[in-house]
This record gives sequence, structure tokens and C-alpha cells, in this order.
Amino acid sequence: MAAEGPATRRVQVAEYPRLLKLKEMFNSKFGSIPKFYVRAPGRVNIIGEHIDYCGYSVLPIAIEQDMLIAVEPVKTHTIQLANTNSLYPDFSTSANNIQIDKTKPVWHNYFLCGFKGIQEHFGLSNLTGMNCLVDGNIPPSSGLSSSSALVCCAGLVTLTALGMSLSKGRYELELTQRHQVELAEICAKSERYIGTEGGGMDQSISFLAEEGTAKLIEFSPLRATDVKLPSGAVFVIANSCVEMNKAATSYFNIRVTECRLAAKLLAKYKNLPWDEVLRLEEVQARLGVSLEDMLLTTEDALHPEPYSPEEICRCLEISLEQLRTQILSPNTQDVLHFKLYQRAKHVYSEAARVLRFKNLCEEAPDNVVQLLGEIMNQSHASCRDMYECSCPELDWLVDVCRQFGAEGSRLTGAGWGGCTVSIVPADKLPSFLANVQEAYYQRSDGSSVPQTPSVFATKPGGGALVFLEA
Ligand code: GLA
Repeated sequence: MAAEGPATRRVQVAEYPRLLKLKEMFNSKFGSIPKFYVRAPGRVNIIGEHIDYCGYSVLPIAIEQDMLIAVEPVKTHTIQLANTNSLYPDFSTSANNIQIDKTKPVWHNYFLCGFKGIQEHFGLSNLTGMNCLVDGNIPPSSGLSSSSALVCCAGLVTLTALGMSLSKGRYELELTQRHQVELAEICAKSERYIGTEGGGMDQSISFLAEEGTAKLIEFSPLRATDVKLPSGAVFVIANSCVEMNKAATSYFNIRVTECRLAAKLLAKYKNLPWDEVLRLEEVQARLGVSLEDMLLTTEDALHPEPYSPEEICRCLEISLEQLRTQILSPNTQDVLHFKLYQRAKHVYSEAARVLRFKNLCEEAPDNVVQLLGEIMNQSHASCRDMYECSCPELDWLVDVCRQFGAEGSRLTGAGWGGCTVSIVPADKLPSFLANVQEAYYQRSDGSSVPQTPSVFATKPGGGALVFLEA
């Protein structure tokens, strides 16, 4: 008997234009019909930036835009990947020899991360191959997690294909919430094959999202709880049109390293076993104090001037060699200055903002939209000044959004480009969209080439799904 879990839908493909088009394209590409389809959504992070990899909770929603893959498991051991977007060339490889080149963030590597994650987690060898046609509509390199959506989609594709091959072509996979948590953890880990040391937010929301509700995502152990967003407001995404691929630069990993170093210096200052500590949250947990206390400790223990590698070695009483081999990641070996005070201040204050935001959503006072907006504005200021992950275009875009009626606006995702998210009173939405469109995207010099859609309202969407043809 085929089992259908909460993440499986039996559908008449003919009733879904996107699935139908994909089915036809698959047929002309591979000369056969897909056995199943998988979708995994992108996300917009409402608040809680750059704190997941420090162990702190974040508050994202899944967006409607997603990665959709049509799949046919095959008897050979070859994986054949094609993309509906001709910018992304075809690729094929043996399922038994997955190589992920960290030096080139090419599209198919994200698929291979998800595939390899499942393969390694279950200790599988001799996997059968598959033909896959990928169709994504999340703007790439825009902070909406298109890369993690592809990793998650590939992970679920692989698991589904595997389940089918074990049950001789029938579908017997029942995806319970426990499986979704496990999949999120596997995919978060496997995306690191690409070389970036992201936290688990993107993969968690892609699997654990539910329509109509934001999620507070907590780590260790991973869990997601509903947060009801206020009904009088709409969340609007606007794309700065500055592309930022976090795997193509070392910005992201430098921040991860700075947070790790700050955690170690704070632990040492407090006489904790600093060599066991990796994340800023662990320092707080071991001390058993509040986030406000951690902000004070940061001021006492760290200084605002950047730290050189030599100074860090003196503080931790280790050699440069130990610093390089035991603490720094491959692409942060040559960094000359680490800003530990600013990064720790951002992380502890942002973690507190997430909790305030969630509490306000629950308490829902009359002026909730205004109060949430203020917290989002504070988050942007901290990302800009303390974490230095904004850019002039994002700063300008949040100003434009506030000017035309947003109660709050902030960069979302890794930053250094990509999108903003704004909270806009529902009655101001039409004029907000029109005015931001005109002010940011139709510049008088005609220099910008806006992507479409570049400013749009969003609401909490559902998580990853397997579609089977009814
Ligand atoms: C990227 C990472 C996430 C998170 C955000 C910043 O999207 O993949 O894990 O760290 O940046 O909040």
C-alpha cells in the first residue's frame, strides 16, 4: 500500500499548469514521463539575521517561490540533471562518484549536496541513477535562499527515489515531522560541502514551514513553533538587485569565524573551557545568564578595535599554527583583522530582538505593527553598523520603504546585496508598492534593469512536498 504522509500530495498533473509544462519539457528532454515531482520553497527571514550558526532562534517564513524538480529514477547509475532555465547547463555524473568542487559555486553542485547528504547519512553505496529536470522561480543570489531550496529539494528527491527503489517502484515513504526535522538537519550539514558554513535556518523552514504561520526555529534540538503574524500588516519583499552569492566570496565565512573567535575569547574571559566552545549561545548557556548580561560581558571582555591573529593567539595562549589549523576555516586563513566586539554585540542583541518580536506577536497590543517595525529597524541598523553585512543599495532601499509607509524595514538573508523585508500596514499596501517601484526601480537615469517581480507582498507558505500523479 502506498503511504501518504503530510508532505505528499496526489495530484492530477493536468490541473497544475507548471507541473504540466514541466512534464512536457521532461518528456521532450528525456523521452519519458516523470515518476514524481518534488518542490521545496525559498524563505524570507522576518528577523534573526546571522544568529542561527551562533545557536540562536530565528523567525522566517517560507515563500511561495520554490524549486520544483521532475524525477524519473533509472536503472543505470547515472544522474542526469537539466534545468528549464538555459542559463544553467545540463550536467551528468555517476551516482557513485559525487565530486563537489568548492571553488566553483555552479548550480548542479547544490543538487549534488542534497544527493550526497542522503547518500552519506544512510551509508548507501551503489545508488541507482535518475533523470531530473529542475525548474526554479526564486530569484538567485537575492537572500531568499534559492540555493538551500535546491539542496533540500534534491535531498527529498533522493530520499523519494531511494524509497521507490527499495519498494520496487511503489511509493511507501511517509514523511512525518520527525523525518522532516531529520531531513532539514541532513541538508543543513550537506550544504557545507559547497564551502559555506551556514546555520540551519534555510533548510529547516524549507521542510518545516506550514501555510499561514511564521515559525520560530530553535536549534539543538531543532524544532519549529508557530508564530502568528499580526493580521493588520503585510510583509513585503523588495529586491535591491545587487546580487550576492555567499559561496563566491569569503564574507560569510569570515563572520562565522569572527563569531566563533568571539565565543572563545568570552569563554576564556569567564574561565570556561574555551576550547570546547564553538558558538556564542554556548557561552550564555554555560554561564546561565540573560542576553542582556551577555551584552555587558561583551563590553567588559572585548574591545571595539579589530583583533589581529597575533592578539587572538595571545588571548587564547595558542600559537598561530594552532589558530590556523584548529579554529580558522580554509577561506579565512589570511584574514588580518577580526571584529569580535561588534559581531558579538550584534548576535546577542539580535537574539533578544527575535524573542521580543515573537512575544509581541503573541501579546498583540494595539500598536503591534508599529512596535514590530521598530524592532525590524533596529535589526537593520545592527546588521549595517555592527555586523557590516549591508550595502549602500540595501540602506537606500530600506529608507525608501520606510518613507513610503513601512513601519519597519530591514535587509533579509545573508546581506551584502539581495532583498529587504518590510512590515507595511495592510491599508497602505497598494500605494507602498507603487511608490517603492517608482522610487527605487525607475531611476531617472534609467540605469537599473529591474528583475520582475522586484517588490511584492508575501505570506507564509507551506514546506517541501512530493507530488505523485493521481
Ligand atoms: C544564509 C545562511 C543562513 C543564515 C543567513 C543569515 O542564508 O544560509 O543559515 O545564517 O544567511 O541569517
